[in-house]
Parts: sequence; structure tokens; C-alpha cells
Amino acid sequence: MPRIAYLECARCGHHLSAETPQTLCPLDAGPLYVRYDLDDLRRSASRDNIARYAADSATSLGMWRYRDVLPQAEPVTLGEGWTPLLASRRYPGLRLKEEGANPTGSFKARGLSLAVTMARHYGLRHLAAPSAGNAASALAAYAARGGLSAHLFLPQDVPLANHLEAELYGAELTLVDGLISDCARLVTEAIAAQRDANVPPEEIWFDLSTLKEPFRVEGKKTMGYELVEQLGWQYPEAVFYPTGGGVGLIGMWKAFEEMEALGWVSGKRPRMYALQASGCAPVAQAFDEGASESRFFANAATLAAGLRVPKPYGDSLILDIVRRSGGAVLASSEEEILASLKDWAAHEGLFLSPEGAAATAAYDKLLTTGELRSDDRVVLFNTGSGLKYTDTIAQALRLRRPHLLPRSLPVGGIITPV
Ligand SMILES: Cc1ncc(COP(=O)(O)O)c(C=O)c1O
Ligand SMILES: [Zn+2]
Repeated sequence: MPRIAYLECARCGHHLSAETPQTLCPLDAGPLYVRYDLDDLRRSASRDNIARYAADSATSLGMWRYRDVLPQAEPVTLGEGWTPLLASRRYPGLRLKEEGANPTGSFKARGLSLAVTMARHYGLRHLAAPSAGNAASALAAYAARGGLSAHLFLPQDVPLANHLEAELYGAELTLVDGLISDCARLVTEAIAAQRDANVPPEEIWFDLSTLKEPFRVEGKKTMGYELVEQLGWQYPEAVFYPTGGGVGLIGMWKAFEEMEALGWVSGKRPRMYALQASGCAPVAQAFDEGASESRFFANAATLAAGLRVPKPYGDSLILDIVRRSGGAVLASSEEEILASLKDWAAHEGLFLSPEGAAATAAYDKLLTTGELRSDDRVVLFNTGSGLKYTDTIAQALRLRRPHLLPRSLPVGGIITPV
């Protein structure tokens, strides 16, 4: 594992030390990227090492097979990463990256495994975050695993699984009558109040909000390494990624930069497609308008809970990556998302998250318009398991369950030979 050389502001390029925990750039509040000494990496990291670590280990290393390009610290792990890249039955060029296979059922495990790893490494004890749902499940689980405490702020209508997981993993939970943006404000205010009240520094919460510390992006970059390795160290033509805060997209782009600098992959980078839901599509709107930032999306509402981010902190980074790659930001309606979710379950045996179905719905649309062909080499992310949304999806599908089963079924009569 390499030492971090410095942290670099994504906006102004300012450098900061990684010896102590950092949040945002002190000059312009830009998000921070983890940077290593590239000459060191070229000497110590290699594709062969990765294959050897995996071959030498009796258990799956998950995303830690990329330890050569991850910060030096003792991992807090539950076996995240190295998820299946499944071929579609119907579209010859399409591969689906099944992130529902992660601990806590979503790709959030990658970022939070690394963020909690580094928090423990720095000796932090109390972690706080606002979440649309899955980040809360993952933070609660990794905090429990690492022996740290988690303080979570969730919209009150968060899917039941997320609520239940956070409770079970022992997090302190605040359900908020509002959206993730309201939750984020409450975290900031709570930390400011702790400072004002002279709470001892080791008791003050550390804010793990999306992009407000450098390590969630660093963990999610492993998705970029993985998809390239799983394709035989080659780029696909396009990547489809459901985008709320955009951490995965930003992380994958960082991975591509690093892999090219290390000589691990070459050729044209994939077109990046960021997929949103029409009920909350601030980045799609900004993309259509040619703007470099999004505007706050009023009355955000969608079944794809993870996409309900009315004004992502990294909006300008997302837009810049999508445009530079030649991709697009597209929004799908609730009907399209639900129809695609049913289609993939019935025809591919995959129970997608509504966020993943926003990506498959957009893929279908581009096939129809002819912008994409079914043999184009595409990697599409199902960012979470549909099983985390049984309550909200059943409700959207108006699934009827018998109110009460008869008290005594004549089961014995049926199975016992007469
Ligand atoms: C299943 C799922 N997909 C996608 C997203 C959006 O993630 P990102 O912040 O990386 O854009 C979330 C966020 O909560 C999520 O839970
Ligand atoms: Zn800066």
C-alpha cells in the first residue's frame, strides 16, 4: 500500500497534507483528491501484483486486491468489491456490473469501507453523515465493524431496509421531514453546535458527507479499476452510471487517469452516461442547458431514493467529466424506471435497484433512438440490490397481499397419503 503524497483540491489544485483528517479545501471549499507519488507507484504497483495477491489469498480480497493503489492503513472490511460483471442475455455488447452483491447490498460499501478505514487510522471516533439510504446502511455497518460510532440523518420516508439496518448496526438515527439536502444541513449545524459548546475534540463528529472528505471517492474508484480489469485491461465504449451525488462517476474517472499514468490501460476513455430520474434531475437539466453547475431541483420525488439529491455538491465535476468523455446526462420517468425494472427481472433474472433501472431505461432509450447499438461495448452499473426496496417497489407496483391467511390450512391432508 502506498503512502499518500498529498491531498489536492479538485477546484484550485491547492495541496494539503494527509497526516491529519481533512474535509474540504480551506481556500474554496473544493473536494479533495488523494494523490500518490506516481514514480513510487510505477515502481511498486503492477497488474501482476494484483493478480498475484488474488491468487495467493484463500479468501476473496474484494476491492483490496487494488491495495497497491489504495492508502496505507489496516482495512475495515466486510468483503466489498470484485462484484460480478454479467453479460446481458439480450444485448450482445452489454455487461452489467452487479453492485448489489456488495455487503449491505450496494456500491456504497466501497466508499464507506475506505472512509471508515481512514477514520479509524486517524483515531476518529464519531462519524456523521446525511444519506438517501444506502450510504447510511453502509456507514452503520462499517462503523460497527471498525468499533466507531455512526450518527445518521435520513429522510423519514427512506426505504425500510435502510432504516432497519441502521438500527440493527447500532447507529444513532435521526429521521428528518425533508430530503438529503435538509439532512446535510442538520449534520453541519450539529457539528458547529458541538464546536460552540466546546465539546472535547475527540468527541466531535467527523462529517463523512458525499465529497466532503477524500476517501469515499477513493474507495469508489475501485469500480473503475475493476471494470477495466474484468474486460481484460481494456476500456468499454461507454459506462452507464445512475447519478445522485456522482461519487462513483468521479471516482471511476480518477481511476482511469491513474491507470493511464501507470500504463495499465490505453486507448479512448469510455463515454460516461450519468443517469437520473425525471423526478429529481438537476444534473440532466444543467446538461441540457449547457450550464456548468446545477440549480436546486424543487419538490424532488422518485422511487429511485438514491437519486433524490436536489443539488449535488460535485455537480460541476460530474458535468465536466460527462462532457469531456462525449457522454450525456439523461433522465427517465417513474413509469420508464418501473417498466425497465420489471423487464430486467423477468427477462434477465436480475432484481435491479430503481437507480439501476434508471440506467437500463436510459440504455433502452438510446437503442431506440439509434444513438447506441446493442453490440456497442457498454458497462452499466446496477448500483444496488432491488431487495433493499421491497417496501417501496411493492407499493409502486400495487402488489396485493392477502390480508390474513386462513388460520388452519389443511396442509397435512394435502401431503399425507390417504
Ligand atoms: C443504489 C444507489 N444508486 C446510486 C446512488 C447515487 O450515488 P452517487 O452519489 O455515487 O451518485 C445511490 C445513492 O444513495 C444509491 O443508493
Ligand atoms: Zn481549492
